[in-house]
Amino acid sequence: MAVIALKCPSIEVAVVDISTQRITAWNSDQLPIYEPGLDDVVKQCRGKNLFFSTDVEKHVSEADIIFVSVNTPTKTQGLGAGKAADLTYWESAARMIADVSKSDKIVVEKSTVPVKTAEAIEKILTHNSKGINFQILSNPEFLAEGTAISDLFHPDRVLIGGRETPEGEKAIKALKDVYAHWVPEEQIICTNLWSAELSKLAANAFLAQRISSVNAMSALCEATGADVSQVSHAVGKDTRIGPKFLNASVGFGGSCFQKDILNLVYICECNGLPEVANYWKQVIKINDYQKTRFVNRVVSSMFNTVSGKKIAILGFAFKKDTGDTRETPAIDVCKGLLGDKAQLSIYDPQVSEDQIQRDLSMKKFDWDHPIHLQPMSPTSIKQVRVVWDAYEATKDAHAICILTEWDEFKSLDYQKIYDNMQKPAFLFDGRNIADLEKLRQIGFIFRSIRFLGFEVNRLRGLIKMGFKRPFDGEEFQEFPF
Ligand code: UDX
Repeated sequence: MAVIALKCPSIEVAVVDISTQRITAWNSDQLPIYEPGLDDVVKQCRGKNLFFSTDVEKHVSEADIIFVSVNTPTKTQGLGAGKAADLTYWESAARMIADVSKSDKIVVEKSTVPVKTAEAIEKILTHNSKGINFQILSNPEFLAEGTAISDLFHPDRVLIGGRETPEGEKAIKALKDVYAHWVPEEQIICTNLWSAELSKLAANAFLAQRISSVNAMSALCEATGADVSQVSHAVGKDTRIGPKFLNASVGFGGSCFQKDILNLVYICECNGLPEVANYWKQVIKINDYQKTRFVNRVVSSMFNTVSGKKIAILGFAFKKDTGDTRETPAIDVCKGLLGDKAQLSIYDPQVSEDQIQRDLSMKKFDWDHPIHLQPMSPTSIKQVRVVWDAYEATKDAHAICILTEWDEFKSLDYQKIYDNMQKPAFLFDGRNIADLEKLRQIGFIFRSIRFLGFEVNRLRGLIKMGFKRPFDGEEFQEFPF
């Protein structure tokens, strides 16, 4: 909305929320979310044509176009628990809009919603309309966190779905005119409502599927001695495949991928398509497998136990340049290590101690078996320290796990870090950002998602020298490093 305000000075934008705390933050110098470039945009427009307010009803009743961006989390109980989207907030927003509206409105779905949500919303609005005309549009957002502002300035496409009626087309045109202030017309795609809704789920499923595909390959690379970075580089050179989104990692996180795929799975199941549902479910299963594999590797490399050992966790956010921790792989990795009684010292430049403690003490929701798993016990919480410096986190540690690809982790003084660590000093790079050769020279036992080409060659050398072959590729601890 801030970018719309910036690009369209003639349009007045009011952002409303029922949370006074959140609106106060949006009106202050300390915005409630960290997003590069956002401060600037907000400062340029706030008070001119961009307003933040808790007076929801007033602004809704005055608006011509209403973007609804409420939360649509995965349902945790009842029908579809673990997979279906919870539309409670959407429904109450629609009822409120119907209640307070006195003139015709265009209501835009901005939150990602299951296919055919617009139909349900339309029913709520028209059955309560008092003669007012409501046009529903689907305008899913494709921005990624950390690059939100540049994604919005230069979107690959803007997608607008609406009814194929004269009123629907008029509404589509009105929204298209807003984006046309800065997006070339040929990049604004207009479709029917259902295509727009499904395209968002499909895009996220395709993106996540690429990561799970390359992560699945990383397991095979480790078993065979290939280097997954080299494989993904070679594969991505095929112009039909392309180079982006092929970085093997400790797993994808974020508020969208898992939620949207689970939602897609549920829609497939409801439409009698179990084979299609299982196909997409596998993308999440591989993601869970990748996180578990990472924990297993840490433990097995460290002589099969991390009990009482200090492990430094560098990075907790689900990716760099954001403080967002929703579904971050760091939660599962930390819980796995704590389960093995490790002492964790966590540092992330943008995530607060409160947030980390909250994430680690929350019950885990098992998407495949919708029951809440046990939260961490108070003893495990004592095993966690959150610090504000990478050097502090790594001091006296037995191992380092890099779980977010923050740029600052690339330029740390690893010699100094190594000197202050317990020996042997292990470094597990879940994001492929560290310089393997340099770290090895310093003396680290270095393992990364792409490391094993190197390790397997070492292993082959050792086997030639008469060492017994380990049980599997994970069991390197039998060998002297
Ligand atoms: C995603 C979509 O990209 C965006 O279009 C949609 O609107 C919302 O969901 P976001 O969740 O902000 O955006 O982040 P994204 O950059 O897609 O990364 C998601 C996760 O995948 C992160 O944990 C990231 O580290 C991981 N990832 C990404 C990889 O592991 N490897 C890659 O090659 C790319």
